[in-house]
Amino acid sequence: MGSGQDLYKKARLRIPGGTQLLSKRPEMFLPEQWPSYYSKAKGVDLWDLDGKKYTDMSYQGIGACVLGYADPDVNKAVHDATDAGSMTTLNCPEEVDLAELLCELHPWAQMVRYARCGGEAMAIAVRVARASTGRDKIAFCGYHGWQDWYLAANLAHDDALVGHLLPGLAPAGVPRGLTGTAFPFRYNHLDELEKIVSENGDELAAIVMEPIRNFEPEPGFLEGVRRIASRIGAVLIIDEVSAGWRLATGGAHLRYGITPDIAVFAKAMSNGYPMAAIIGVADVMQAFQNTFISSTYWTERIGPSAALATIRKHRQLNVAQHLIEIGTQIQVGWRAAASRAKLAVTVSGIPPLSHFSFDYKDGLTMRTLFTQIMLGKGFLATDSFYASYAHQSNHVKRYLTAVEEAFSVIAAAADRNEVSQPLKGPVAHTGFRRLA
Ligand SMILES: Cc1ncc(COP(=O)(O)O)c(C=O)c1O
Repeated sequence: MGSGQDLYKKARLRIPGGTQLLSKRPEMFLPEQWPSYYSKAKGVDLWDLDGKKYTDMSYQGIGACVLGYADPDVNKAVHDATDAGSMTTLNCPEEVDLAELLCELHPWAQMVRYARCGGEAMAIAVRVARASTGRDKIAFCGYHGWQDWYLAANLAHDDALVGHLLPGLAPAGVPRGLTGTAFPFRYNHLDELEKIVSENGDELAAIVMEPIRNFEPEPGFLEGVRRIASRIGAVLIIDEVSAGWRLATGGAHLRYGITPDIAVFAKAMSNGYPMAAIIGVADVMQAFQNTFISSTYWTERIGPSAALATIRKHRQLNVAQHLIEIGTQIQVGWRAAASRAKLAVTVSGIPPLSHFSFDYKDGLTMRTLFTQIMLGKGFLATDSFYASYAHQSNHVKRYLTAVEEAFSVIAAAADRNEVSQPLKGPVAHTGFRRLA
C-alpha cells in the first residue's frame, strides 16, 4: 500500500468524508488502491507521494485545469500578482480588466460580479434572480452545487435530484421551510419545464440549466427554454461552471446561440486557481445593489490575474478547438477498442468532457477493474476523460493502446463471469454516501 493510502486513512479520522470534494474521494475511483494525493503536477503528468508518475487521462483537476497542470503563463501571472501583493485595503485593477474581457467575449452581458467557487457563484446568481424578480421559486436542470437553494429539491421527494448528476444527496440540514421552492426538469424535456411553469409560472424567479453536458440539445429545446423564461418574466441562468471554455473561448451557450440573462463561470476560467464570475444583463445585475452579497476573498488578486492569463491564452491558441479534437480522438478510440473487445460500451458527452459506460449489470465492477488495470500501466483513468491543452496526440495514442489491452482483459473476465476476481480491493462507489 502506498503512502497516499496511508495518509488517506489518517485523513478519514480527521476530515469527515475524507476529502473536501466528493469527486476526489479515492473510493469513487479505486478503493484502497488509488494514489489519493499528489506531490507535484505538470502538463498532464502528476507524481504521487512515493514519487511514482502517472499520466492523468481522467478529470484533469476535476475540469479546472483546461490548459494543463502548472501552466507556465498562468503561473507567471500568479507569481507577478503575489509579488505585487495579492491582498490589500484597496481593490485590484485586474477585476475591472476581467469584467471588460468577459463582456467583450459575451456581448449580450454588460455587468460582472465575482466569487471563487462554482456552487457559491450559482447561489449568488439565484439570490440575484430572486432579488430582481421578487419571486422565490426556481426551475432547474442538472447539477449546480451543494447549497440550500439546490438541495431543497430533495425536501419534497428525496430522489428529485437523481438523474441530475448525483444520486443520494440527502437534504439533511436544509431548512424544511424551503420545501417546494426548487423544481427539477430533465434536459431536452421541455414538457417537464412547461408543467412546472403551468403550476408555478408567475412565482418562478429563475430557470437554471447548463447549456449542454451529456446530450446535444434537440431542435427547439434551448429556444423553447428562452421563450418560456421571457414569457413568464423569469431570469434565465446558464451554468457554465463545467461546460464553459470547452467549446468556445467563453460559454458553450455562444456555440448554441442561446442568450441568457445571467451566465456563471468557475473552474476552467482560471486554470485551477480559485475564481468564479457571474455575468449578466444590466437590468438583472443591478439587483446586486438591493441585496447584500459581499465577501473579503472575492477581492483578492490571484483569481482575476489567473483568469486573465488563462482566457487570453485560451483565445490566442484556440484551445477549445484543441479540446474538441483531442476529445474526439478519445471517443473514437473508446468505441473502436470496445468493438474490438466485443464489449457493450456507450460513449457520451461533448468531446472535451467525454464519458463512457460499460452496459452490464456489473458495469461498476468493470469500471473499477478498468481503473486498476490502467493505474498499473501508469494512467489515472476512469469512465470520463476531460481534455486539456496539454493533452497531445501522443498521450492519446499511448492511452488508447492501454485501453485496448484493458478492455480485452475485462471482456475475457466478463466471458468467464469473473469480473470481480482480479480486483485487489472493493468496488468503487458512485454517488454520495457516508463513509464508515
Ligand atoms: C454545472 C456545475 N455547476 C456547479 C458546480 C459546482 O462547482 P464547485 O464545485 O466549484 O462549487 C459544478 C461542479 O462540478 C458543476 O459541474
